[in-house]
Amino acid sequence: MKLLITGGAGFIGSHVVRLFVTKYPEYQIYNLDALTYAGNLANLSDIEHLPNYTFIKGDITDAKFLEDMFAELELDGVIHLAAESHVDRSITDPMSFVMTNVVGTVNLLNAAKNSWASSASGFEGKRFYHVSTDEVFGSLHNPEDFFTEETAYDPQSPYSASKAASDHFVRAYGNTYKLPVVLSNCSNNYGPNHFPEKLIPLMIHNIQTSKPLPVYGKGENVRDWLFVVDHARAIDAVFHKGKEGETYNIGGFNEWKNIDIVNLLCQIMDRKLGRPEGTSAQLITYVTDRAGHDLRYAIDAHKIMNELGWEPSLQFEEGLEKTVDWFLSNQTWLDNVTSGAYQSYYQGMYTNR
Ligand code: NAD
Ligand code: DAU
Repeated sequence: MKLLITGGAGFIGSHVVRLFVTKYPEYQIYNLDALTYAGNLANLSDIEHLPNYTFIKGDITDAKFLEDMFAELELDGVIHLAAESHVDRSITDPMSFVMTNVVGTVNLLNAAKNSWASSASGFEGKRFYHVSTDEVFGSLHNPEDFFTEETAYDPQSPYSASKAASDHFVRAYGNTYKLPVVLSNCSNNYGPNHFPEKLIPLMIHNIQTSKPLPVYGKGENVRDWLFVVDHARAIDAVFHKGKEGETYNIGGFNEWKNIDIVNLLCQIMDRKLGRPEGTSAQLITYVTDRAGHDLRYAIDAHKIMNELGWEPSLQFEEGLEKTVDWFLSNQTWLDNVTSGAYQSYYQGMYTNR
């Protein structure tokens, strides 16, 4: 199996690459990543030497590059994670989300379709897996409601609109050209390698450095959190066992209000840093709400659990402890990311090859 994973230098992609490279030594894994601000090859430093792993620096907005790459590699499968992923950035710069998430995804679909259609076996044995988000479903207001695979799309932010558009294009290629596609929509991930612009790693970093902890609005918004390694395990299940043309929702049945997570992190960090209880909570600062802030996400994950036998392996409190421990023991990773040093070092290393 020659498998392309896009966005493998990012947060979730790095865990997916690690899982596939180590669990399937017989596969050739190609990690295609543009190394935007969110891409960090240090995320893969422990596996980059393995013989079944190859990094390719490239941009999915470049259709010609993708066409040439598909012709050269003769790929059997794609797991597509490359994206602009941060809602706040999508509010200030929507067009980069359109370019990567929509145009980039359609470029990738075209490259896969054209290359596979002209191969000896056609679409037989091929698979295009699109990794998406629960944000395409919009915001839940009734406490009893969950997002299922049948929930109508209702994206509310430029980020979620761009991901919804990409999901529609993937399904359209499945329907129109019979491209063998499969999709998943996952809830909020957390864990090692999480870029410190997102809630959990930002709070960990700010607590550590005694900076204000910016809670949007009243902190009442609810997210459904899943440890990133459990998402990678779910992606493995969907890629290998998911039915062609189907969608699988992925989540941990683990809803938390933002303010409760921030308070829990303050308690954990006070204990780990040897600070008197209550010290870090004094840093909590309520700030102007995110524009169009979705109130609540909650995934009904019964389909993937019942049909593919996947289930989360970690309780949230355990996962959060693990995550804090990872950040505290990987200070260089965090320092390089917050200073920007990771970009010049790793990007220089690869563009010079
Ligand atoms: P991330 O921002 O950490 O990583 C994205 C990666 O894509 C980076 O390595 C970046 O360099 C790369 N990339 C961006 N633009 C590119 C381009 N034009 N060409 C090639 N590579 C490019 O994102 P993440 O949080 O790891 O999310 C990965 C995927 O999972 C995304 O598709 C996202 O929508 C989806 N998702 C994320 C979450 C979450 O909680 N983070 C939850 C559900 C789904
Ligand atoms: O639900 C899946 C989505 O989860 C993914 O598709 C996105 O790629 C991922 O970024 C994430 O989106 P969110 O907007 O939910 O994540 P974020 O960490 O940015 O914010 C989580 C919640 O915390 C949200 O309600 C906004 C709030 N928040 C966030 C930040 C960065 C704050 O209160 N303060 C902050 O500083």
